This record gives sequence, structure tokens and C-alpha cells, in this order.
Amino acid sequence: MRFARLAAPLKFAPTQVAVLLVALYAIVFATVLQYDELSNVPENTHGLDLDRAYDTLAKITTRPHPYISHANDAVRRYILSRLEPLATRHGHVHLSDDMTSNVTFAIGGDRIIYFEGTNVLLKIDGTGSSSRDGVLFSCHYDSVSSAPGATDDGMGVATLLELAEYLSAPERRPRRTAVFFFNNGEEDYLNGAHAYFEHPWSNLTSVFINLEGAASGG
Ligand SMILES: *[C@@H]1O[C@H](CO)[C@@H](O)[C@H](O)[C@H]1NC(C)=O
Ligand SMILES: *[C@@H]1O[C@H](CO)[C@@H](O)[C@H](O)[C@H]1NC(C)=O
Repeated sequence: MRFARLAAPLKFAPTQVAVLLVALYAIVFATVLQYDELSNVPENTHGLDLDRAYDTLAKITTRPHPYISHANDAVRRYILSRLEPLATRHGHVHLSDDMTSNVTFAIGGDRIIYFEGTNVLLKIDGTGSSSRDGVLFSCHYDSVSSAPGATDDGMGVATLLELAEYLSAPERRPRRTAVFFFNNGEEDYLNGAHAYFEHPWSNLTSVFINLEGAASGG
């Protein structure tokens, strides 16, 4: 009996599998502890307010805020409250509290999705002449229903709010038009992204940067 066990130390039996699994998790955990470090905040932030960005992240991630939840409405109101002053202050900055870009689309061949738009967009008119080479900066403000969504995608929202404020200043006005896109219902079927193409500003952008959660390391 004892010899048989020694002959097959890695056989597919409860004890062996448990020991292997625990060892495997220990290796993964140790590796993460050793190598998965967040880099330090750079000394020169070029005028970006990183403390406020962190504060924003705390404010919008107090609880899960999936699409069609009251918490989702609160996050949306917060985003608007940050963007409204920018559009009021600067003539070249425009806010779109988009409640009209609705979409209906099919997924997987047997399901139809209907989404009444609740995206928020901010446009900074570029100083250049072309109206169609704008840059789209995208993030989504809904979270999954089981987590507060700090990395997915609260950090994207906090980052774009700061960047929008930064680039709105007349002395930093970019050559190319910038559209900041805070979309909703991403965790469902990329609903907000579908609705973007119903918005007139979608024709102004030709490239995009999408800030989306990529696991806990950022
Ligand atoms: C989208 O739906 C909302 C809510 O029903 C409605 O007010 C709006 O007019 C719709 N948009 C269009 C373009 O029909
Ligand atoms: C974008 O431009 C195309 C081509 O001119 C047009 O068919 C489409 O309706 C426009 N989209 C929006 C949302 O205005």
C-alpha cells in the first residue's frame, strides 16, 4: 500500500490534487507579491490634479453602480456636475447630456437589445481646420453589479474627468478636436458604444483611446 502511493505521488486523487493546487496558488501569490508593484506617482504631474482624481475615484466607487440602478444615476449626476462648469466657462467646450441616442441591435443572432441613451459627452473644439480628425477618449461609468468598479472603470472616469478639465483651459486647447465620452451600459452589451454612432459628434472623431479596466494591476 505504502509502496503504491510512493510509486505514483502525482496521481489524480484528492490529496495529491489538493497539495498541487495549494502549491500552485502559493507560487502565483508569491509572484504577484514580488512583481506586481504599482509605480510611484510621477514628481512632475504637469498641472494635473492627481489628488482630486483619487478623490473622484473614491466618490464614484462607494458601491456597485450597474446600468439601471440608482447608484448609476448618482455617478452620472456627479460626472455632469464636474463637466457643466467647463462648458459654462469656455466657449470652445460643449457638453452633451445625451438622453436621445437610442439604439436597437441584435446579438448572437437570437437576442435583440434596446438601449435608451444615457451617455455623457464633452467636446473641446480643436484649433485646427479639419473637423473630422478628432480624437475620442472613451470610458464607461457603469460597473458590474457585484463590485464597486474602481478599476473597471472608475479609474477611466476619474482620469478622463481630469484630462477634460486640463485640456479645456484656453492655453492648453488642442489642435485636434477632443471628444470625452462617458458611456453607460458597457457591462451589458457595450450599449453606450453602440449609441455613440447615433450621436452627431461621432462623425468628428477618427481615432480613439479607450480607458478600460485591465485587472487589479491597472
Ligand atoms: C429616445 O428615447 C427617449 C426616451 O423614450 C425619447 O425621449 C427620445 O426622443 C428618443 N430619441 C429619439 C431620437 O427618438
Ligand atoms: C455621419 O456621417 C454619415 C455620412 O455623411 C451619415 O450618413 C451619418 O448619418 C452621420 N451620423 C450622424 C450620427 O450624424
